[in-house]
Amino acid sequence: MTDLVQLTRDNGIAVITINNPPVNALSPGVPEGISEALDQIALDDSVKAVVLIGGGRTFVAGADIKEFGKMTSGRTRGAGLLPLLLKMEDSTKPLIVAIHGTAFGGGLELAMAGHYRVAVSSAQVGQPEVKLGIIPGAAGTQRLPRLAGVAKAVEMCTTGNPIKAEEALKFGIVDRIIDGDLLTGALAFAREVAAKPAPKTRERNEKLGNAADNAQIFSSARETVAKKQRGLLAPAAAIEAVEAATKLPFEEGCKTEQKLFIECLFSEQSKSLIHVFFSEREVNKIPDIPKETAVIPMKSAAVVGAGTMGGGIAMVLANAGIPVLLKEADPTALDRGLATIQLNYANSVKRGRFSQQVAEDRLKRITPTLTYDDFSKVDLVIEAVFEGMALKKEVFKELDRVCKPGTILASNTSTLSIDEIASSTSRPEFVIGTHFFSPANVMRLLEIVRGKATSKEVIATCMQLSKTIGKIGVLVGNCRGFVGNRMFGPYRREAQFLVEEGAGIEAVDKALSDFGMAMGPLATGDLAGLDVGWRIRKEYRHLEVPGIRQPFTEDSLCELGRYGQKTGAGWYKYDDQRRATLDPLVDELIRKWVAEAGVPQRQISAQEITDRCLYALVNEGARILEEGYALRASDIDIIYLNGYGFPAYRGGPMWYADTVGLKQVYERVSEFQRHHGEIWRPAPLLKRLADEGKTFADFGKEEGAAA
Ligand code: 3HC
Ligand code: NAI
Repeated sequence: MTDLVQLTRDNGIAVITINNPPVNALSPGVPEGISEALDQIALDDSVKAVVLIGGGRTFVAGADIKEFGKMTSGRTRGAGLLPLLLKMEDSTKPLIVAIHGTAFGGGLELAMAGHYRVAVSSAQVGQPEVKLGIIPGAAGTQRLPRLAGVAKAVEMCTTGNPIKAEEALKFGIVDRIIDGDLLTGALAFAREVAAKPAPKTRERNEKLGNAADNAQIFSSARETVAKKQRGLLAPAAAIEAVEAATKLPFEEGCKTEQKLFIECLFSEQSKSLIHVFFSEREVNKIPDIPKETAVIPMKSAAVVGAGTMGGGIAMVLANAGIPVLLKEADPTALDRGLATIQLNYANSVKRGRFSQQVAEDRLKRITPTLTYDDFSKVDLVIEAVFEGMALKKEVFKELDRVCKPGTILASNTSTLSIDEIASSTSRPEFVIGTHFFSPANVMRLLEIVRGKATSKEVIATCMQLSKTIGKIGVLVGNCRGFVGNRMFGPYRREAQFLVEEGAGIEAVDKALSDFGMAMGPLATGDLAGLDVGWRIRKEYRHLEVPGIRQPFTEDSLCELGRYGQKTGAGWYKYDDQRRATLDPLVDELIRKWVAEAGVPQRQISAQEITDRCLYALVNEGARILEEGYALRASDIDIIYLNGYGFPAYRGGPMWYADTVGLKQVYERVSEFQRHHGEIWRPAPLLKRLADEGKTFADFGKEEGAAA
């Protein structure tokens, strides 16, 4: 037996324990270990039934995802799990699978090959493969409909979302919920069924439904995935595989599943989504801040400013159980801020997200105030007042005076220097940027901005806090716009240039939406408010280098009071439901403005639109990486996936560039430089990696840049 699997005996019941920390993935050695244990059990007449259980914090969280890269690069191609699962199912001694933690992917497939399943009530089961761009590859699409019915199997395999033990019991995936110790309960269950025949899941066809009902389930599922999982290949493949279960004998169904699984596994989408899986975990690893770094206990917080962002941030903290003081400058603003929060909670209750009671509990955790009186008690303050250095410094000076030593002073600024803000305090080591995205209670991204004096404990605490509040925290350096917005500038600049050179507004948005962006860049501008960038540009106009081309359409729209959705008109016009339509007037105005400015007009292809916008992102991303404002290319990807609607199946802008090939990206950027001038000068890192035949992913590994 391998050391990843142990076989013990308990009064006539064999216990197979999988011990492959941290999540008992089915790495090489685990299937072999289970198989050997089954061989020994078959020869042992004293054993009447078998319990299969996971050691440590969970049952099996799935196949070992690291192995997929080896398979696609041709380094390994094992037999897969199917033979082991048949062997388990063919065992003449009843096999009971005992589940705690998560039985995900290959873990659930393993469990379904047992004859019975028991679980603790906190356990979850699921087929999350679509989130990795694949489908279940060990008969999950064939056994799950046999246990749970076709509709539930389709839902679980297409969304990838797990279900809790109670629901799994209701749908027949689990046979009993165990209260108390899982192994004790599983052993008792094993004794009950030891003398009974062992039912094989693959032979249980009674839940496979009839052709007419199934046709309805599959067609409505296909419609849903086309709408909700736009551009993704795996969900449709999952439906096809479950459909095979309803139409073909088990063995044939497995062959169909295998074919689809391999097609998905070798797709660019799957490689990108696997990159996303590991990058989301990598983001927590900060080279100079070890995991053991002490964190500051976070029992209470305060937010300054109850506007768009402050209100959302207060909700996020309250939702996570942290009591929060919410301070405003005057009673009118405070009332307005509180009314928005109340409305948000009421809407969530109306939509069934949580109960009235939960909403009330959350609201009770937010204490409105007009003074700093109770700030001396809190562990964290997040400032979200108007964007202006003088005001921020004034607020921080006051915070420094009223807060106890050790309180973290964070700013939600989106453009200002954290170091300069920190300079107004006597404790710059406790000052940090926590850059939330709008709406703060919805968007998952949190850029954590490290000032030059910010202490490691403060960074570690904010990284941990991001998890507590359900965000994905990414550590970035203190440069203008930090990482996300610094890259977004050139991206939106190119979108405007394209319009000024003759591309249609809709054509620009459609090209990027077809690429997979949640929204086109011009529609995004309308949503965020065109005036935000306009005001910033006005403030920084003195820094513009003469002779460098600047876009002008958005500023001209703002001068006409067209700020986007909030004024009912921007690039598009909006009805009272905020539905966008093209406005012929804007088109007319733009043609007039460009004629006055003498910008030559031409036909522009969708390819040029996507290349110009995306490579503008990538070129700036390369500078950020080289300058050390992001720790690794994959951190930039995570920022774009969670804050800017970049499609996960493209892996993020830097990964996307790697998949295109940096030589090709560099050549295209150089071509843009020849046509459009210095703003397109290729980033030195892009040139070097292209010359050396390397990728952005290699850069992280070769040098380990530091933010
Ligand atoms: N394979 C390899 N490594 C895995 C893994 C897996 N299936 N699941 C988790 N890990 C690793 C993580 O990368 C992480 O490593 P690190 O500490 O070096 O960063 C470590 O295990 C702990 O993972 P998390 O930080 O995610 O721990 P959590 O406790 O937050 O979450 C979990 C645990 C819910 C199990 C989560 O890890 C998860 O969702 N894992 C993936 C589950 C999955 O997608 N399974 C399907 C795999 S595909 C498959 O089974 C194909 C089959 O059909 C043939
Ligand atoms: P906002 O204008 O909606 O809200 C600012 C609030 O601060 C106002 O309600 C104002 O009354 C209050 N305020 C001003 N001075 C105060 C003081 N001394 N004490 C208490 N309250 C005071 O602004 P918004 O959009 O919420 O922005 C806040 C900060 O968040 C800014 O730094 C902005 O750059 C940043 N940010 C904004 C994003 C957005 O999309 N709106 C996204 C990410 C960051």
